[in-house]
Amino acid sequence: MTIHAQQRFDSLIEADERIEPDDWMPEEYRQTLVRQIAQHAHSEIIGMQPEGAWISRAPSLHRKAILIAKVQDEAGHGLYLYGAAESLGTTRAELLDRLHTRRQKYSSIFNYPTPTWADVGAIGWLVDGAAIANQVPLCRCSFGPYGRAMVRICKEESFHQRQGFQILLRLTEGTAEQKQMAQEALNRWWWPSVMMFGPPDSESVHNARNMAWGIKRFTNDELRQGFVDMTVPQAELLGLTIPDPELRWNDERGHYDFGEPDWEEFARMVRGEGDLPEQRLRVRREAHENGAWVREAAAAYAARQRQAA
Ligand code: 3HC
Repeated sequence: MTIHAQQRFDSLIEADERIEPDDWMPEEYRQTLVRQIAQHAHSEIIGMQPEGAWISRAPSLHRKAILIAKVQDEAGHGLYLYGAAESLGTTRAELLDRLHTRRQKYSSIFNYPTPTWADVGAIGWLVDGAAIANQVPLCRCSFGPYGRAMVRICKEESFHQRQGFQILLRLTEGTAEQKQMAQEALNRWWWPSVMMFGPPDSESVHNARNMAWGIKRFTNDELRQGFVDMTVPQAELLGLTIPDPELRWNDERGHYDFGEPDWEEFARMVRGEGDLPEQRLRVRREAHENGAWVREAAAAYAARQRQAA
């Protein structure tokens, strides 16, 4: 590396400009991006499972069509993100192998069960809502391919969040049992969604450096606060109660005060403890094996095209 290369990188970051794949970059910058983008992509494709399980049980053809579209979108998000990671010199095969062998993670949020249709609504409303709160600032990530992938993904997340909110709105306007189902789903998904933004800033390994590099634009706690402030009025619109007795508006701060997540539970979920994480990875590995013939056929076709050219 020449001093000039480091100086050019530093001046691009300083000027809040984009780093592109062909630009020189510090190895740690490249590695932390591969880490974050790959785990983001893994989260997208693992996240297809809890909702995918409800496609055959959706309460109407209309809901089934919407859910199919959403699950397909998540697969596409994974592909954009694997593509962004590959521009950093890794391969999708290598990243998937790290996921399959638990050398890389996916978001803790997908280690929770979805026992009712209301959970599909809560995932759309809360999980995709949290994804939006986290991903909109990532549209300004200093690494070009990641930021640009986020622009397209965020547009689709808005549809995901809205359809989830609408599912719960229908339930809360329905029978007492349906409203109770919506409340129980909120009880299950509120705290896991609040924990999606990562550990508290005091425990965050990557916050400071990734903020300095313009990868993250806000810390975990700032993103978390933004999500809570955005979501509490929506819960009020639904007539549902957020399961946090310490939640209250703080006029002085101009934000909601809220309770402390269960960081022990968070750590267990991040470590992938319990049956569900093993099931998620088993289903993922089976899908990968069952799809081998598609990859082989595409590779054979591409090789023949190259020969013919
Ligand atoms: N689940 C699993 N691991 C988590 C986590 C979570 N919710 N939050 C943090 N971690 C891990 C980090 O990956 C890191 O471990 P590592 O060094 O082995 O990668 C460790 O905990 C310390 O956390 P840090 O705060 O230091 O890590 P980051 O700076 O990477 O911040 C993050 C965590 C805010 C999740 C950040 O990685 C990020 O913004 N990632 C991109 C967004 C993303 O991945 N979202 C996941 C959900 S995708 C989704 O919702 C899809 C939607 O369509 C439904």
